[in-house]
Amino acid sequence: MKAIILEEVGAAENLVIKDIKPPEVKEDEVLVKVKAIAINPVDYKVRANKDMLRRIYGEQMPAILGWDIAGIVETTGQNVTQFTAGDKVFGMVNFPGAGSAYAEFVAAPQEHLAKIPEGISFEAAAATTLAALTALQVLESRVGEGDKVLIHAGSGGVGHFAIQIAKALGAYVISTSSAKNKDFIMALGADEHIDYRTQVFHDILGDLDFVFDMFGGDILFNSVKVVRNGGTVISIMSPVISDETMEKAKQRNVNVSNLMVQSNGNDMNTLKNMLVSGVLKPHIFKTFPFDQMALAHKQQETGRTVGKIVVAL
Ligand SMILES: NC(=O)c1ccc[n+]([C@@H]2O[C@H](COP(=O)([O-])OP(=O)(O)OC[C@H]3O[C@@H](n4cnc5c(N)ncnc54)[C@H](OP(=O)(O)O)[C@@H]3O)[C@@H](O)[C@H]2O)c1
Repeated sequence: MKAIILEEVGAAENLVIKDIKPPEVKEDEVLVKVKAIAINPVDYKVRANKDMLRRIYGEQMPAILGWDIAGIVETTGQNVTQFTAGDKVFGMVNFPGAGSAYAEFVAAPQEHLAKIPEGISFEAAAATTLAALTALQVLESRVGEGDKVLIHAGSGGVGHFAIQIAKALGAYVISTSSAKNKDFIMALGADEHIDYRTQVFHDILGDLDFVFDMFGGDILFNSVKVVRNGGTVISIMSPVISDETMEKAKQRNVNVSNLMVQSNGNDMNTLKNMLVSGVLKPHIFKTFPFDQMALAHKQQETGRTVGKIVVAL
């Protein structure tokens, strides 16, 4: 099979196509013939960072990066009960471990997948995986009817799902981006937009129930200031929250913590239902062919992507 191999940590050009043996499936895994892959910031971060790469892949090089797939079940391990050959499936495979998704065939645990609903393309399904799971896992148990919520970077991969999910949960949603993405954010259902280039969110807002932070640092610190007593800030940036931010949160009685998304088939089924009901609509900014993976990484690295980048096979 063809796979995109990272020979050595570093630039996007280090991603090269090679012919390698397809993976073997374990008892509880299915072999998926991949039709579409979604790209995330973590893909280029791992590609370029020796410590992150080693934490996930150990000393084994070359590595196959990627986690988000949509495709067709080719074969099933002997303990697989949820899928049969020919099923169309999507999911985030083995995150935060090795997903090895940049390949024509991927071995995926059945617990990480859901069936793609009728009428949803492989590209749309692939887009609705890591970023959508993150938004769901951050918001589902923490945000409810009437809550006033700030979602930073509402035009990004995670943010554009987060706006839609928060609205479905009944929240009043305020979201940030630059001015050029205001219409996109309002069309997703946001109630208010803040242009972070010309407006200072922590001067304008206050008494919020919840903030979804994608950045850490000063944005996380200032997010704590706009939350009410007893409210919550969840950051998906760095697992390390500064002493200054923790101190501010303590003074104001705000709950602040970090969340790392986890592979989860039940949550994939929730996303599947949201796609069926129309609650969730992935936005695909650009689709690249498999042999242009390096360009897909470069686009993601710009930090200017609106919605998701997909690679089609
Ligand atoms: N912990 C976890 O489990 C987890 C899971 C998923 C993602 N993440 C992390 O979360 C971050 C966001 O991921 P993503 O996929 O959403 O990224 P992304 O798609 O690359 O985000 C791009 C968007 O961010 C907006 N943006 C950039 N700077 C901004 C600012 N200062 N204020 C508001 N918006 C801004 C851009 O809009 P403009 O062009 O208008 O500026 C752009 O539309 C990444 O660092 C990623 O690694 C963590």
